[in-house]
Amino acid sequence: MITVSTLHKMKATGDKIAMLTCYDATFAAAMDAAGVDMLLIGDSLGMAVQGHTSTLPVTLDDMCYHTACVARGVKNAMIVADFPFGVAQQSKEQAYQAACRLMAAGAAMVKAEGGEFMAETTAFLEQRGIPVCAHIGLTPQWVNAFGGYKVQGKTEDAAAQLIKDAKAHDNAGASIVLMECVPADLARQITQSVHCPTIGIGAGKDCDGQVLVMHDMLWVTDSKKARFVKNFMAGKDNIQAAFADYVQSVKNGTFPAQEHWF
Ligand code: KIV
Repeated sequence: MITVSTLHKMKATGDKIAMLTCYDATFAAAMDAAGVDMLLIGDSLGMAVQGHTSTLPVTLDDMCYHTACVARGVKNAMIVADFPFGVAQQSKEQAYQAACRLMAAGAAMVKAEGGEFMAETTAFLEQRGIPVCAHIGLTPQWVNAFGGYKVQGKTEDAAAQLIKDAKAHDNAGASIVLMECVPADLARQITQSVHCPTIGIGAGKDCDGQVLVMHDMLWVTDSKKARFVKNFMAGKDNIQAAFADYVQSVKNGTFPAQEHWF
């Protein structure tokens, strides 16, 4: 069973962490059998499963339902559940109550979007036995504020702020820092300057692990994909082989390749 201490040992030994999003028991079992280390019940389910155009309409009930479904399929992987929009950011007490529901549904870690200002919530949850994955960089719940899904940390000031965000969460005891759409050089610098493992999506090869949205890496539809997505179904005749190829590619450092980062 993968635990927070397994992840910290993996950072120390340089073993890469393979994470995928997952929303139901059958795919969870296939990912688990393929050796995926961490399954994220992302609020991306709003788009991937529910057909919305953003993650904003997803509710805490939705997250608990899908977390419980995934938990039924898993034997070894760590289960991480996302806080949906408007839940963790209001107050640390509200975040704690929502986290308890997600943990009761089967999560072993919760993921909250937001930078330095969320570090107090990270500390509050970690002190109460709830491991936290702090999601920084392109935080999709901020899509309206960002004016779209854009690479973050491109200016000197923005890069300095992202370093502060990561360090604030790390000092608050975060179990993981997840960076989305951050220039590869900056993600490497952050990975080297925090104690906790980092996971990247569109953040280069030097993070301690990688995550992709399952529907993207299986190329379920032909819709335009982000630069960081690779089609792991290409040349395979079954989905479990695609998951196994993803795990192997993350672990041997062949994914992501330069064409996937910024
Ligand atoms: O909701 C999600 O799937 C995520 C990943 C893209 C990291 O946050």
